[in-house]
Parts: sequence; C-alpha cells; structure tokens
Amino acid sequence: MTPQFTDRVSRVSPSATLAISNKASQLEADGVDVVDLSVGEPDFDTPQNIKDAATEAMEAGNTGYTPTSGIPQLKEAIAAKLADDGIPCETENVMVTPGGKQALFEVFQTLIQEGDEVVLLDPAWVSYEAMVKIAGGDLKRVDTAAHDFRLEPALADLEETVSDDTTILVVNSPGNPHGIVYSDEALEAVRDLAVEHDFMVISDEIYKEITYDGIEMTSLGSLDGMEDRTITVNGFSKAYAMTGWRLGYFAAPEEITSEAGKIHGHSVSCAVNFVQHAGVEALQNTDDAVAEMADAFEDRRDMLLAEFADRGVDVTKPEGAFYMMLPVADDDQAWCERAIDEAHVATVPGSAFGTPGYARVSYANSKERLQEAVSRLDEHDLL
Ligand SMILES: Cc1ncc(COP(=O)(O)O)c(C=O)c1O
Repeated sequence: MTPQFTDRVSRVSPSATLAISNKASQLEADGVDVVDLSVGEPDFDTPQNIKDAATEAMEAGNTGYTPTSGIPQLKEAIAAKLADDGIPCETENVMVTPGGKQALFEVFQTLIQEGDEVVLLDPAWVSYEAMVKIAGGDLKRVDTAAHDFRLEPALADLEETVSDDTTILVVNSPGNPHGIVYSDEALEAVRDLAVEHDFMVISDEIYKEITYDGIEMTSLGSLDGMEDRTITVNGFSKAYAMTGWRLGYFAAPEEITSEAGKIHGHSVSCAVNFVQHAGVEALQNTDDAVAEMADAFEDRRDMLLAEFADRGVDVTKPEGAFYMMLPVADDDQAWCERAIDEAHVATVPGSAFGTPGYARVSYANSKERLQEAVSRLDEHDLL
C-alpha cells in the first residue's frame, strides 16, 4: 500500500547536521580519513564518577520505570542547581526527560497551537524550526549574523518582529552555532518585550556550563518578571559529555510542567532509571571535570581562531559552547560539499541554521585534527 503521510511530518526535513555526519561516516567506511567538524558532541568520555554511579544504580536494581517526571533525588538536585542560578524552582516545576531535545519537543507540543507565532534568533539550532513546524506553529526570524551574532544590536529588529500575537521566543545562550553569550542588557530587553507583549520565553541553557574568558551567563529565568514566563531547558549531554545517555530536563511554571507531563507520560513514560541516578552524581560531584573540559575547549578555540587569522580569515570569537561560524562563500551548501568531497573536512552549512554564507565548525576535536582540517581547507583554496 502507499502510505499517506501527515502534514506534520511532511513539513520538516531530516536534520542537516545528521545528514553531514552520515556522509562523513560513509566516507570513513570507504577508508577515507575525514576530519569531522560537523558533530555537536564533546569528544571526551563521560567522567568516571558518573559511569560508576550508573553502574551502582543498575546493580542496586534501579532498572524499572520511575515516576513520570523523574526520581525525586534528581528533581531535587536540578531544583537546587537552578536555584543556585537564581531561578525560583521547586521540584514540582521540573520534568526530567530523555535529553534536552525531548524537553523542547514536549514544551512546543504543550504550548503551540496551529498557527501560533514563534520567534527565533538566527542563526538558530536546527531542531527548533522542525519542532515548531511539527507543532503547527508559524516561525518569525530575527537575524543576528550582521551584528556578529550579538543580540543588543538586533534588539530593534526583535522589537519590530514581536507583537501581541507572539506566543514564544526561543533564546539560546551560549548559542549553537555561534557560541555567543547574550549580555545582561540584551536579556533584560528580552524580558521587557516579553512582559509588554505577554509571551513566554524558552531559554535553552544547554551550553551554560561551557563558557570562556571568565564570562558567566545569566539565566533568563532569574530576571525579575520572568519567573512565570520562562521555560528553562537544559541537559547533561554537553557539560558532562553524556550525549548517548539521553538525559535532560525543563523547569517551567507548575501548570505547564503538569500539562506537558501528559505528553511525556504517553510517549516516553520516563527517562532511563539508572541514568537518572547518574545525573544526580553529575550535578553534585563533577565540577572539576566540567571545568577541565571547558578549559580544553577554550584552548582549542584560541588555537583555531589563530589558525584562521593567520590565513586572513576573521571569525567571530565564541564565548561559550564549542562551535564557531566560519564565513565562507555565499553558497555555503556548495562550499560544505566541496569541503567534504575535496578536503575531506565535514562542517555544517550556515543555511541549516537560517544563516547562509557561513559554515559551522565544531571544535570538539583534538588540536592536531583541528590543525589538519585548517591545512586541508587551505590547500584546497577553501579559505
Ligand atoms: C542548542 C541545543 N539545544 C538542545 C540540544 C539537545 O541536546 P540533547 O538532546 O542531547 O540534550 C542540542 C544538541 O545539539 C543543542 O545544540
């Protein structure tokens, strides 16, 4: 029979980042040495204390379903972390999910009606667009690329774009794909607009623990007036090198968490039991390992910026996360194809993030491999 697909699924395309990674894997399977700078995951192993906590929890028999919204110990640890970040939070506000992605998906499914307006700050992580479209929302986009990816200079555009029809604004700082940390002034301006036009803000803080040069990122939910209109999303993938464990969460006003719990309960039931126990260990005893990984990323950032600068390429300096936006040809898609086909360097076209003319470079790779990538791009006249 010929399957009939829903509008929901027909509205979206497969993830551009995964498409490139798949191509890189295919070339590697054919014996080609690819430098893969397309990946969105730390190249470190999960810290040992976290693995031990998972093993112990499994051995102790924590292998069944857990309460839908997560085990109490983890919800308490998350609420304590968010309270430390200045976000008013009780365990009732927290939903533990299999990854930050699932947290975002549930929030969009809970709050977006067909035709509701959602505003993104471009360049924006690829899955926001897909999730909003699946939920039936209409996207409006504000470009920050012309302003070195900073939000203050784009505030006039944001002010013009949001209105009383806006349902949700998505803020991601430090941002994927550019690594910029939004200033307190910019976040306060976002707060003023949210209050004036009465919309919710999703603050995706998944890179919050990975910042450089002593910069600390203010959580949007900690600002006066944002306590009942912020949904804070976070996860364990990036800060704790736990991508494959699939653990994340969101914290929201209690009635939102409770409504989203229906979607959660009827889809995933709960996050993996022993993984949640490992999450408690990650939050409570892993500060040193997180700082070490962030230092390593900072070191690589500096090296990569210097390598590009030596070749006359000026790249906006990331302040967090582990990505940078390399300015390339107008046709960024064609540039990325040449980069992988000719130089065997995998990157992601900026157009996948709503910003053509750039390639996203992930520096979650060793310094040697990063240097190798730059040399190859140079040799193939791609810089
Ligand atoms: C900005 C951003 N938010 C959320 C996620 C989701 O991560 P996970 O589902 O692994 O927690 C990612 C992953 O790449 C991301 O870059």
